[in-house]
Amino acid sequence: MPETILRTEGLSKKFGQRWAVKDVNLEVNKGDIFGFLGPNGAGKSTTIRMILTLLTPTSGSVRIFGKDVRRDRHEVLSRVCGIVEKPDFYIYLSAYRNLEVLGNLSRKIAKDEIVSALEIVGLASRANDKVKTFSHGMKQRLGIAQAILTKPDLVIMDEPTSGLDPQGMKEVRDLVLTLSRDHGTTIFLSSHLLTEVHSVANRMAVLNHGELIVQGKVSDLLKGDSSYYSINVSPQDRAVEILKAQPWIEIVSVANEIDIHIDSGRAAEVNRLLVVNDIEVSSFTAKRTLEDYFLKITEGASDL
Ligand SMILES: Nc1ncnc2c1ncn2[C@@H]1O[C@H](COP(=O)(O)OP(=O)(O)O)[C@@H](O)[C@H]1O
Ligand SMILES: [Mg+2]
Repeated sequence: MPETILRTEGLSKKFGQRWAVKDVNLEVNKGDIFGFLGPNGAGKSTTIRMILTLLTPTSGSVRIFGKDVRRDRHEVLSRVCGIVEKPDFYIYLSAYRNLEVLGNLSRKIAKDEIVSALEIVGLASRANDKVKTFSHGMKQRLGIAQAILTKPDLVIMDEPTSGLDPQGMKEVRDLVLTLSRDHGTTIFLSSHLLTEVHSVANRMAVLNHGELIVQGKVSDLLKGDSSYYSINVSPQDRAVEILKAQPWIEIVSVANEIDIHIDSGRAAEVNRLLVVNDIEVSSFTAKRTLEDYFLKITEGASDL
């Protein structure tokens, strides 16, 4: 069993009469790069702010390292680096001085550690410039330098690549991978872009209108070369037996319809198999893949 680093249980937030986040159960394991995907307004930032105790949940709880974040706030958050949409730096201090101040909150930090963190994120030449003069992308990278320096066990980033150009997005993505690979840091990051999550995360959850749609391994959820179908048959028990006997057919669920997962291009073969076994097939329909689904719910979003 993988160790659970972050778990939310029934996490909910109501603003006025509207639920911004409703009954969200997330599970992030040690070593995960966990993608928290959802269109704008889905409730990602609200969830993250509750996780970081910046906002009080209406109901539900957040556990990090097995401890309740609100009860053991100081102990838990000393091992977490939160990089929210607009990173909080001392804008009148230099990049170097910011890292020195922020780093020393957790432990005594040597000068060359700061220089090395700035080098990793490509800010060494700007070490002595005031953060006030930094672009959005540079501030994101400085946030990552802080994470490299303070060696947290969990890094939580809210849309780290939002507002960056493609080059800046790639740099941040590469840094996330470095942080994960070289430091074994567990990373939770939100995004409204499927490709973004797809390219870095091993596990993901999809949020829409404050509710969790799905959660699991990215490779399972976004199988590029495979397809899901729903089949209506009679007699159903017998059909399940026949399908089960085929190793290339995965039965996902059996309810009113049988949901199966197969390699694309083999649907006709499944149909034939049923028919030659005297099963009456009344419908055979392709289900939406998660990718189709996500593109549909983000359709019309202004900044895609
Ligand atoms: N402080 C607030 N007061 C009232 N409504 C809010 C507040 N913060 C967020 N919301 C609403 O909650 C919903 C989710 O917002 P948010 O968590 O920012 O979504 P995301 O980060 O996924 O874009 C939106 O409808 C937003 O307008
Ligand atoms: Mg947001």
